[in-house]
Amino acid sequence: MKHKDKVALITGAAQGLGFACAERLIADGAKVLFVDIQEDKVKEATAKFGDRAAGWICDLRQIDTSMADEIVAAAVDAFGKLDILIANAGIIHLDDFVDFPEAAFDEILTVNLKSAFLLGQSAARQMISQGHGGSIINMSSINAILANPRSVGYAVSKGGMKQLTAVMAVGLIEHGIRVNAIGPGTILTELNLRSVMATEEQRRMILSRTPARRLGDPSEVASVASFLASDDASYIVGQTIYPDGGRLILNYTVPVNE
Ligand SMILES: NC(=O)c1ccc[n+]([C@@H]2O[C@H](COP(=O)([O-])OP(=O)(O)OC[C@H]3O[C@@H](n4cnc5c(N)ncnc54)[C@H](O)[C@@H]3O)[C@@H](O)[C@H]2O)c1
Repeated sequence: MKHKDKVALITGAAQGLGFACAERLIADGAKVLFVDIQEDKVKEATAKFGDRAAGWICDLRQIDTSMADEIVAAAVDAFGKLDILIANAGIIHLDDFVDFPEAAFDEILTVNLKSAFLLGQSAARQMISQGHGGSIINMSSINAILANPRSVGYAVSKGGMKQLTAVMAVGLIEHGIRVNAIGPGTILTELNLRSVMATEEQRRMILSRTPARRLGDPSEVASVASFLASDDASYIVGQTIYPDGGRLILNYTVPVNE
C-alpha cells in the first residue's frame, strides 16, 4: 500500500475534495486527522474509518501560529507523527469587483491562504524534527490563473497559493519535504453547487469550455493528491498539477458550443 503507516492531516476534510483525499489516503494505508469547522460532519466522516481516522474541530478564520501548532499537535497526539499535510479548506464569495466586501476578502484570504501558510510552517517544523521528510500539498484552483471579475478574493487566494507552494518547496526540499499544489477545474462538490454551478446557464458555460465535456469527480482530485504525496512523485517539487478536464489549455480561438 502506497501510504502504509503514513499520517496525514487534511483541512476541510468533512466533505468535498478534502473528504475524497482523506478517503483515498486511508484506502492507500494512511491514518488521517480530519480538520474542519463542521463538527457533525467530521464525526460522521471519521466514524466510517474507525481507528484510522480522528477529528479536530476548529474555525480556520481564527488561524494564528498557536492554533496551527495545536492542529499539528493533534495529529501527532492521535497518531504519533505527521508525514502529509493537505491544506485544502477553502471558501468563496462572489461579487462585482467594486462591491466586493472587505470582510469577505479578509475571510477568504485567511481560510484559503493564511491557514495554508501557517499550517505549512507548523507541519514543516514537525516534519523537520522527525527527520524523515514529508509531503505538503496545497489545494489551489484553475482560478490561480483564470480571472473571474466576481471572485477577486478567491482568485487572489489561489494565485497566492501558487507562489506559497513554490516558496515553501524551495525552502523545504533540503529537509526532504516536497511541496506541491493541485489546481482542480470544476469538480462536483457542495462548494460548486452553491457558487459557480448554481444555475443551468453557469453549468452549460463551464461544460462548453471543458474539453472533457464533463465535470470532475472528487476522486479524480484525490488520486492526484495520493500520487503527489507518494514516492512515485519523488522528483516533483513546487509544481501545481491541474486536473481540469482540459479547461486551461483550451485556446480561445476554438469555437465552443454553449
Ligand atoms: N470543487 C471544485 O470544483 C474546486 C475547484 C478548484 C479548487 N477547489 C478547492 O478545493 C478545496 C475544497 O473545495 P470543495 O469543493 O471540496 O469545497 P466544500 O465547500 O465542499 O468543502 C470545503 C470544506 O472546508 C471546510 N471549511 C470551510 N470554512 C472553514 C473554516 N473556517 N474552518 C474550518 N473548515 C472550514 C468546510 O466545512 C468544508 O468541509 C477548496 O480550497 C477549493 O477552493 C475546489
